[in-house]
Amino acid sequence: MASTMSLLDATTNRRSIYALNKTSPISDARIEEIVTHVVKNTPSSFNSQSARLVLLLKDEHDKFWDVVRDILKAVVPEDKWESTGNRIAGFRAGYGTILFYEDPEPVKTLQTNLPMYADKFPVWSEHTSAMHQYAAWTALEAEGLGANLQHYNPLPDQKASEIWNIPLEWQLKAQLVFGGLQEGAREKLAERAEQPLGGRLFVHGK
Ligand SMILES: Cc1cc2nc3c(=O)[nH]c(=O)nc-3n(C[C@H](O)[C@H](O)[C@H](O)COP(=O)(O)O)c2cc1C
Repeated sequence: MASTMSLLDATTNRRSIYALNKTSPISDARIEEIVTHVVKNTPSSFNSQSARLVLLLKDEHDKFWDVVRDILKAVVPEDKWESTGNRIAGFRAGYGTILFYEDPEPVKTLQTNLPMYADKFPVWSEHTSAMHQYAAWTALEAEGLGANLQHYNPLPDQKASEIWNIPLEWQLKAQLVFGGLQEGAREKLAERAEQPLGGRLFVHGK
């Protein structure tokens, strides 16, 4: 089932949606196809292809957020736990999570081969990861899923490595939680507060 939403419509439609549930308007095979497409087609610095994506669905998604919850429970003061616990439960209520890692190996190879840019490659590796995050976020929303971006790394890194056999050297950068939309989830979103465009976009040579 191909989405007919145009790229610009999809970028407008993409929001941080937290009211998610455990349904999906598309099959797991289609979700995998989309994530595969993102890995294959998203650009990377000097074509390093340093991004590593781990797609967790259903029970495996739940497992990830249980790991985060358990780690947080041990460190968050009791009186702050309710809001933290509820937040994590909200992510767990979704359908899946994509973990975005960067493999430092291709980055090191670039640093060795092009020492002139050695200090830039780690920064561009972050950019590479961000491009993958945005492509996946927008593509999933174009297919009718809702999503939000989280940063609980490095808390779950060790456990995730053990559970899903992820090399410990890979660096976890972000987690994209996605799922079906709870009723009215999109309609209830506050309008995005926007800074005036005048100070953010400059056009010359029209
Ligand atoms: C680099 C980056 C980091 C973000 N980190 C988080 C995060 O850790 N937790 C979260 O809930 N949202 C996070 N967001 C979502 C932003 O808060 C959100 O995109 C922004 O407020 C605009 O709202 P919108 O996504 O609905 O358009 C992040 C977004 C970006 C681009």
